[in-house]
Amino acid sequence: MIELVRTENLHKRFGELEVLKGIDLSVSEGETVVLLGSSGSGKSTLLRCINFMETPSSGRVFIRGEAVGTERAGKLTYNQADLCQLRTKVGMVFQHFNLFPHMTVLQNVMEGQLTVLKRSRKEAGEKSLAQLDRVGLADKAGEYPSRLSGGQKQRVAIARALAMDPRVMLFDEVTSALDPELVGEVLKTMRQLALEGMTMICVTHELGFAYHVANRVLFLNDGAIHEEGNPQQVLRNPQTQRMREFLEGHSLFKLPD
Ligand SMILES: Nc1ncnc2c1ncn2[C@@H]1O[C@H](COP(=O)(O)OP(=O)(O)O)[C@@H](O)[C@H]1O
Ligand SMILES: [Mg+2]
Repeated sequence: MIELVRTENLHKRFGELEVLKGIDLSVSEGETVVLLGSSGSGKSTLLRCINFMETPSSGRVFIRGEAVGTERAGKLTYNQADLCQLRTKVGMVFQHFNLFPHMTVLQNVMEGQLTVLKRSRKEAGEKSLAQLDRVGLADKAGEYPSRLSGGQKQRVAIARALAMDPRVMLFDEVTSALDPELVGEVLKTMRQLALEGMTMICVTHELGFAYHVANRVLFLNDGAIHEEGNPQQVLRNPQTQRMREFLEGHSLFKLPD
């Protein structure tokens, strides 16, 4: 099994606040991992450290076995060009889609390919259409984002990330800002990606998604991975009091019989 993402003793501090207290994470190719945790437990920070939108305070990140950063005299340094390269391999989708309003859907999906990957317009256009088709939105290529629903915008944001040919996709509460009736179409797209073998780390409060789609669930608490396992085991039969309390707070979710 190929290990795509690995973190070793990852720490992140913001001043006095230590948000991540030594995270050891390993995600294999094709695996879907769901990261659960209360608000403020550091889920976003962990994802952001994996694609280096935040620089870890200490510890290492490896993408496909390659260590990110260079160690000299015990100090880690990060080269901007390397981080830019890394972010093409580690796609990320956020709660707020951040599409450019003055560009069509197609132009939005093409943009990163043109500016970061230096693809030709022809190649970027073809790639974009293929990815829009993958999320079921090829017919919206010529529309402006303002004409799309929130769910459609989020699927465009997913297509935009996929068009960079990432090795792994990070999803940070991508359905949290959507009207309830639009959540399903985005989760369906993510489920489809998982079935196609995409490697994914998803922060979500959608326990149904975790239950049915994840290969593994991690519960982040007090800066550490507090409990982990297959979703059936963790969600049905939590081993720790904290995890039980967290699940009770999500009592709207009913486990299948
Ligand atoms: N850039 C930052 N500067 C200072 N504190 C931050 C910053 N980003 C996050 N934090 C703090 O780190 C903690 C974890 O935040 P976050 O990773 O966003 O949690 P989650 O995504 O689980 O809700 C919170 O207490 C938050 O206020
Ligand atoms: Mg968050």
